[in-house]
Amino acid sequence: MKRVFMLVFAALMAIPWIGTAAAEYKATLKLASAVNMDHPYMVGSQRFADLIKERTKGRITVKLYPSNQLGKGEREMTEGIQQGAIDLLVTSTGPLGGFSPSINILDFPFMFRDFKHVDLVLDGKIGQKLLDDFEKANIKALAFWENGFRNLTNSRGPVKNVADGKGLKIRTMENKVHLAAWKAAGLNPTPMAWGEVFTALQQKVIDGQENPIAVFYSAKLWDAGQKYFSLTKHVYSPSPFLMSKKTFDAMPKEDQQLFLKTGLEVAKFQRKLNRDAEEAKLKEMAKSGVIVTRDVDRESFKKAMGPVYSEFSAQFSKAEIDAIMNAK
Ligand code: PAF
Repeated sequence: MKRVFMLVFAALMAIPWIGTAAAEYKATLKLASAVNMDHPYMVGSQRFADLIKERTKGRITVKLYPSNQLGKGEREMTEGIQQGAIDLLVTSTGPLGGFSPSINILDFPFMFRDFKHVDLVLDGKIGQKLLDDFEKANIKALAFWENGFRNLTNSRGPVKNVADGKGLKIRTMENKVHLAAWKAAGLNPTPMAWGEVFTALQQKVIDGQENPIAVFYSAKLWDAGQKYFSLTKHVYSPSPFLMSKKTFDAMPKEDQQLFLKTGLEVAKFQRKLNRDAEEAKLKEMAKSGVIVTRDVDRESFKKAMGPVYSEFSAQFSKAEIDAIMNAK
C-alpha cells in the first residue's frame, strides 16, 4: 500500500503544474529576437512584457534579448526554444520549416493579396492549425505576429521589373521556398543568417537582400550601401510568437491561458503598429538618400516565380494552396 502511495506521489510530482497555484508560481523568462529594439517585434515584445508583469502583479517577469544576443540567428534561437534555453521568441518563418514543415506553406510568393487577406487566413482555422503543428516539435506557438511584405533592395541600381534584377547576388533567409523563388526569377540567392547580413553587404560579398520596410529601416541598411529599395512585396512574412513547450508546460493553467490571451492581444497591436508606420518609414528612408522605386512591375516577378508552386507540389497540394489563396 505504502509502495502504491509512493508511486502515485512520484507520478504527480512529475507533472510540473499540478499543485502549483498561479499565486505561487514565479518566473523570469527570456524573450529573444534577431532584430533591434526599434523594430516592431521588440515594441510588441515590450508591450507583452509590460502586460504580463501587470497582470501577474510582478510574479512573472519577461526580459528582452534583441539583436541575436541569444543565438547567431533565428534557426539557432528556435533550437534554443526547443531545448528550453530560451523561453519566448519572435521570429520570421525563415528557418521554421526545419522544425514544423507545414509552416512553409506561408512562404510562397504572391500568395496574399493584402493585409486583410493575411488576417483572414492567419486568424482563422488554417492559421490555428499551423500554430498547433508546432507542438510536434516541442514548441508552443502562441500567435502570429508580423514581419510584413518583403521587398528587394540592392546597391547596383533601381529594380523596376524582374529583368532589372537579373544576376543580382542577394541574401535570402535559410528557407527552401524563398531560395527556389529567387533562383526561378534569375537572381543569384545565397541563404545566410540575419546576423551576418550587414557586414556581407558592407563588404560587397552580396549586392542585396530582401526584407519588409521595418527591417530595412530599423537596421539602417543604407549605411551598408543599400541605396535602391523596390516595393516588390513579393511575399508576406508572418512572425510566429513561439514559446518553449517546457516553459509553457511548467506553468499553472491560469498563466498558460494568460500567455495565450496576451500573445493574441499583442498580435493585433503589433500588426497595426507595423502597418501604420510603413509609409512614414519610406519617407524617412528617402531623406537618408535611399531611392525608393514604387511603380514596380510586380506581375513580372509573379510570373517568373510561378514555377515554385509546382516545384513543391509533393509537399503542398493545389487544394491546400487554393484554400489560402481563395480565402475571402
Ligand atoms: O530576413 C530575416 O532573416 C528576417 O526577416 C529577420 C530580419 C531576421 C526578421 O525576422
